[in-house]
Amino acid sequence: MTIIVTGGAGFIGSNFIFHMLSVHPGYRIVCVDKLTYAGNLSTLESVMDNSNFSFRKLDICDRDDIDKLFSEEKPDIVVNFAAESHVDRSIDNPEVFLRTNIIGTSVLMDASRKYGVKRYHQVSTDEVYGDLPLDRPDLFFTEDTPVRTSSPYSSSKAGADLLVLAYHRTYGLPVTISRCSNNYGPYHFPEKLIPLMIINALADKPLPVYGNGKNVRDWLYVEDHCKAIDLIIHNGRAGEVYNVGGHNEMANIDIVKLICKELGKPESLITYVADRKGHDMRYAIDPAKIHRELGWLPETKFSDGIRKTIRWYLDNEKWWKDIISGEYQSYYEKMYGGR
Ligand code: NAD
Ligand code: TYD
Repeated sequence: MTIIVTGGAGFIGSNFIFHMLSVHPGYRIVCVDKLTYAGNLSTLESVMDNSNFSFRKLDICDRDDIDKLFSEEKPDIVVNFAAESHVDRSIDNPEVFLRTNIIGTSVLMDASRKYGVKRYHQVSTDEVYGDLPLDRPDLFFTEDTPVRTSSPYSSSKAGADLLVLAYHRTYGLPVTISRCSNNYGPYHFPEKLIPLMIINALADKPLPVYGNGKNVRDWLYVEDHCKAIDLIIHNGRAGEVYNVGGHNEMANIDIVKLICKELGKPESLITYVADRKGHDMRYAIDPAKIHRELGWLPETKFSDGIRKTIRWYLDNEKWWKDIISGEYQSYYEKMYGGR
């Protein structure tokens, strides 16, 4: 079994590669990543020498390179994590989001059709459903909730999802889509809420909370997401969407206060800053379908997962300090420069 994992030098993709190599030791994993600012090849250092793992620095939008890769590797399964993923950056500059998230998806699916891939899996997000009001805690996103996006990021992910479903209906490509809530855990890039707050708090820097901090996200430990995708690519029904989330709703401000408490830092570091434009109020997933059909349930409680995550950032200072200094971008050159 050969699996192409795109975006594997990013946060969730790298965790997925570790999961797959340890749970399916007979599988070959080919990681494809352009190594944008969000890709960090040093994250994959521990698997670089694994004979079942290989890395290819490629842009998923490059049709010729992707075609050549598929003709050489003959993948059975493609799991597409590669994306521009940060909402704030999409507000500043939408174009690259349209290119990678939509065009890149179509390039990968064209190659998947041509080379007879048995499953194309698109890693999507609950943000395609827009948001829910804070005063209706009874409402959750199901797979039938209409797509109603707020940001250029979520719109580009929704556009890709529609294209994936169209390739199933029009060409019979065996696709699946997972729409997951906010992930947290090791190797999360420091521009996102949880790692940013941990790293700033450690340096006694201000903790910038957008708006009033009451926005709610439904947090899932990254390993639980990886297990869900593993189940979907093996047992999920082609043409189906699966929502993934763990009924772990938290207001941003409560997370930031919890991080202060765990690190022994004063809440006076919290600084309320201008709100994000179009800021979604609440995300909440109903994971009944993936539970019923595939037996998936989240295993890590938020109280345990957040402690493990804080511990990881304390134990892996070099990983995030190299990102802050920019040093991480020279890792590829060091590994592959002479070859
Ligand atoms: P990330 O930003 O940490 O990683 C993205 C990776 O994709 C990086 O390694 C980057 O170099 C690579 N990449 C970007 N453009 C590329 C291109 N054109 N060609 C090849 N590689 C490219 O993102 P993440 O948080 O790991 O998210 C992974 C996927 O999961 C995304 O599709 C995202 O939409 C989705 N998702 C994320 C979350 C979350 O909470 N982080 C939740 C639900 C869904
Ligand atoms: P983020 O990690 O960017 O994920 P997403 O926007 O995809 O949910 O943000 C999570 C929440 O935290 C979101 O409501 C915005 C908020 N936020 C802050 O309050 N301050 C920050 O510095 C960041 C990065 C996010």
